[in-house]
Amino acid sequence: MSLPPSLAGRFRVPAIAAPMFLVSGPELVIATCQAGVAGTFPALNARPAAQLEDWLAEIDAALAEFRARHPDLPCAPHGVNLILHPTNHRLAEDLEIVVRHQVPLVITSLGHPGEVVRAVHGYGGLVFSDIIHAYHARKAAAAGVDGIIAVAAGAGGHAGTQNPFSLIREIREFWDGLLVLAGAISDGASIRAAEVLGADLAYLGTRFIATQESLAAPEYKAMLVACQAGDVVYTDAISGTNANFLAPSLEHAGYRRETLTAREGKGELKSIADEAKAWRDIWSAGHGVATIHDIPPVADLVDRLAAEYAAACRAPAGGTG
Ligand SMILES: Cc1cc2nc3c(=O)[nH]c(=O)nc-3n(C[C@H](O)[C@H](O)[C@H](O)COP(=O)(O)O)c2cc1C
Repeated sequence: MSLPPSLAGRFRVPAIAAPMFLVSGPELVIATCQAGVAGTFPALNARPAAQLEDWLAEIDAALAEFRARHPDLPCAPHGVNLILHPTNHRLAEDLEIVVRHQVPLVITSLGHPGEVVRAVHGYGGLVFSDIIHAYHARKAAAAGVDGIIAVAAGAGGHAGTQNPFSLIREIREFWDGLLVLAGAISDGASIRAAEVLGADLAYLGTRFIATQESLAAPEYKAMLVACQAGDVVYTDAISGTNANFLAPSLEHAGYRRETLTAREGKGELKSIADEAKAWRDIWSAGHGVATIHDIPPVADLVDRLAAEYAAACRAPAGGTG
């Protein structure tokens, strides 16, 4: 499908910088939107909740000023991620703040998005829900979301296990609305490939951790540059839900890769405080880490993504060189 009117013409590259716990903050969101890629962050990164109000005010002001100064440049929309799981006791308060600031894009995870859809549609915003199975995509579609984010195998964070070819094509059998693909997308050729597969936008997480503007520790960024896809470990031992983590960070925290799954893995989410503690010391990344070799400013990264994407769009069948 084509993008809805509120998104059309606002992207330089058809991509969203995905929300990442403890990684995405206002600086990353502002730089990303100004470069022409949608910038997003989890509401829970702003702590306490009052800080969410400050962050959104800062983002609103910076983007309004940018648009006024550069009316000819695409300034992509920003978004907030809300976790709908019952362990998130801030949901009602965060949703109220989101509505007050009329955040253009709200991304829901881990729960039924019905209430969020009603609130966000009230001011004309869009709701995208992330899912790892077609079953959940059907439920999100029935709840009236504007977009579905298919998180495939190899993604950073709480990744799924389904191959992206299979997941996107399966969802396209019943959903002709806006579709976003996530999982190991770190360059412009992969963004184009997502489109060819049937997605409207690509969702990039890991690639944006290794930027100057992300909140990640310098050692985390350096580890991304040093690691290969083979260093990514899929386990439920850290957060109670399967997620991808970097093996060297697991080892620093005292875990042995071979014994991980035997160690814990209760299949339940931990409290947000426990999550924060775990994710601060143990670093997540997807298979897209394989092609990350630097830590550029967001503007340079998006320039590169745009050039790679344009080359992939021009490339004849048979390869992009
Ligand atoms: C460090 C890290 C933290 C994440 N935190 C969140 C989060 O708070 N909420 C969410 O919906 N997704 C979260 N994700 C998942 C991303 O939004 C996105 O789905 C994923 O990074 C895309 O795959 P990629 O990393 O391979 O590009 C996180 C991912 C990473 C790597």
